[in-house]
Amino acid sequence: MIRLGIIGAGAVAHFHALSAGRINGVELGAVCDLREEAAREVARLCGAEVYTDYLEMYRSAGLDAVIINTPHALHLEMVLAAADHGLHVLVEKPMATTVEDCDDMVRACGKAGVALAIGQIQHFLPEKIAAEKVLAGGELGRVLMIRDYRSTDYRPGTRPDWFFSKRMAGGGALMNIGGHCLDRTVWFGGAEVESVSAGTLSRFGAPVETDGALSLTLRNGVHVTISVVSDPPARVDEVLIVCENGSISTSPAGGTLVRSNGVSRTVWEPRPEDIQEGFFLQLQDFITMLDGGVPKVSVEHARHIVQVILAAYDAAESGTAVGIPPARQPIPAVSRSLLNGVH
Ligand SMILES: NC(=O)c1ccc[n+]([C@@H]2O[C@H](COP(=O)([O-])OP(=O)(O)OC[C@H]3O[C@@H](n4cnc5c(N)ncnc54)[C@H](O)[C@@H]3O)[C@@H](O)[C@H]2O)c1
Repeated sequence: MIRLGIIGAGAVAHFHALSAGRINGVELGAVCDLREEAAREVARLCGAEVYTDYLEMYRSAGLDAVIINTPHALHLEMVLAAADHGLHVLVEKPMATTVEDCDDMVRACGKAGVALAIGQIQHFLPEKIAAEKVLAGGELGRVLMIRDYRSTDYRPGTRPDWFFSKRMAGGGALMNIGGHCLDRTVWFGGAEVESVSAGTLSRFGAPVETDGALSLTLRNGVHVTISVVSDPPARVDEVLIVCENGSISTSPAGGTLVRSNGVSRTVWEPRPEDIQEGFFLQLQDFITMLDGGVPKVSVEHARHIVQVILAAYDAAESGTAVGIPPARQPIPAVSRSLLNGVH
């Protein structure tokens, strides 16, 4: 039995908790939050223990792995302490607020021999997986260009205060929501970012950026534009992938549509349970990793997302394009079962 803990009983904790309950051989043993009542509510979903001190949970709850679901700047200390306690880690996106912190996490987990996975949920959402399958099928040819437009809401008061602290969140709408857009466009585009130009806005008196526009060139020449806009007239979350022989539009609300030879067809109809399903597939992937499997999303990819968002801030400030150095050698895939010693 793999015994999981969660730190952070916020917006998506119930998705993680309900996912754990669906996987054979996995149990959610403990939930920790500074807000005891919030932890209790999530723990109630599956009869888990409740903690308000995560180090106490690491020491006492008999865990094998932890899901870290807290404000961005806290990810580092919580991952390092998990590694110290021999716990495998699934940490929410963005991996950290600096590239150095990402590297410290990788080093610490590598040294401790524990798995480190990042919750890049886009790779597991059913409508995105439908788009991935169409691209892999080859019918549309190569990806040439991608447009990603996502609305959000960064008006102060619309979300917990820490999202408006650059120190705690690492940035605003781009670090949080733009990270999702970057994650999926780099994935669909098929190569890392070579250079980024960007503009950011801080509206509504917010101390972090509320909106941002990115223009990216990937190493394979694919061009990507990303717009993240706070409080537009209509909610939007659409990726449009333009290929040699057609195009794909994918969004949680509209599903996934393919245009090929002048004909449109739907390859994914949206369902209310799609987001929960994405969290389930993500956790299942993490559990497979503990048994020696290769995770769908590498830590190098997650680190790259942080690196590009930070470069986008530099680009916005300087008004010029910023180049991204080529990635380091990928860390070798886990070759042995990490489950030795699991309870
Ligand atoms: N994958 C997704 O689609 C998705 C969606 C939302 C949020 N997120 C990510 O999840 C993480 C959490 O965001 P959120 O929206 O749930 O935030 P939130 O503010 O709703 O929840 C964070 C929780 O962490 C708790 N917390 C803070 N410091 C703590 C500490 N030292 N010990 C224990 N608990 C502590 C807070 O009390 C709060 O309940 C972030 O990384 C965010 O980017 C991912």
